Amino acid sequence: MRRVVERLKPQDRELWGHHTVKMRHRMPSLELFNDDSLAGLIETVDPGRMIMHTMEDDLSTWKAVERCGVPGHTVLDAIRSGRIWINMVGIHDYDPRFAELMDQIFADWAMDVPEFRTFKRKIGLLISSPNAKVFYHCDPAGQALWQVRGRKRIYLYPPTDPFLKPCELEGVIRSVTREEISYEPWYDDYAEVHDLEPGDGLHWALNGPHRIDNYGEINVSLTSEHWTPEIRRSWAMNYGNGILRSHAYTPRSRATEGAAFLGKVALTALWRKAGLQEKQSYKRIPEYVPDPAAPHGVRPITSSGVVA
Ligand SMILES: [Fe+2]
Repeated sequence: MRRVVERLKPQDRELWGHHTVKMRHRMPSLELFNDDSLAGLIETVDPGRMIMHTMEDDLSTWKAVERCGVPGHTVLDAIRSGRIWINMVGIHDYDPRFAELMDQIFADWAMDVPEFRTFKRKIGLLISSPNAKVFYHCDPAGQALWQVRGRKRIYLYPPTDPFLKPCELEGVIRSVTREEISYEPWYDDYAEVHDLEPGDGLHWALNGPHRIDNYGEINVSLTSEHWTPEIRRSWAMNYGNGILRSHAYTPRSRATEGAAFLGKVALTALWRKAGLQEKQSYKRIPEYVPDPAAPHGVRPITSSGVVA
């Protein structure tokens, strides 16, 4: 595959991982993202790997949606007319075309930022309704967002207190909460605002809180995720601090080296080995099925599990 991401600017190498870097790419020209390809993916992706949500009337709550055998093109119609958001998580794992695309993205980056060494790379495919919103949240790993079809506005906030409180980041890292974190409208005064067009890509500071508003058209985007040794150390520190805090001890250090840090690494490893994180992880229960004729493109699943 030839290069997907356009060559980065020389200064991007210094900004990388700590500040926002805006990129251009050629994914909009790939057949992988046309309607027939997307409909095929919707039908073949394991339901456990396809997270589908709808936004409630209060515009503040996401509810889980299950495909329940609805054809892929019909799901796309429901997305066009409704309020639906699909994330095909880890799509490179089950579609070799996306595996190749992911490898090319990271190869392009490695050409321009040679010291950037990643492991545990992932990509996800997002398909979302006109005007859909993704609420203020942060993600545990290094990440980038690639706009392929439609337009969206992303607000990026500093990855520090008060925009990102350590106790909330720890909850996200330990998966004891969903990715939402506390938000105040005045935070927007401190946000970087970027309008993303097809062919735009964005990489930003680790754990940087963000929220997204789609413009009035269906959106197709790709997310990429990566780990580096530095990101892994930061993750272990936050995980360990979260365990300490859950036992009424307020952690004082956010260092990612030294004896206290190594103690947190050991604590995290023990905690996870004991399976203690499983019992506290959040579970998702589907409540709707896609339907282009229904309000917001979804109809409810009844309590007996039968589609109403
Ligand atoms: Fe995110």
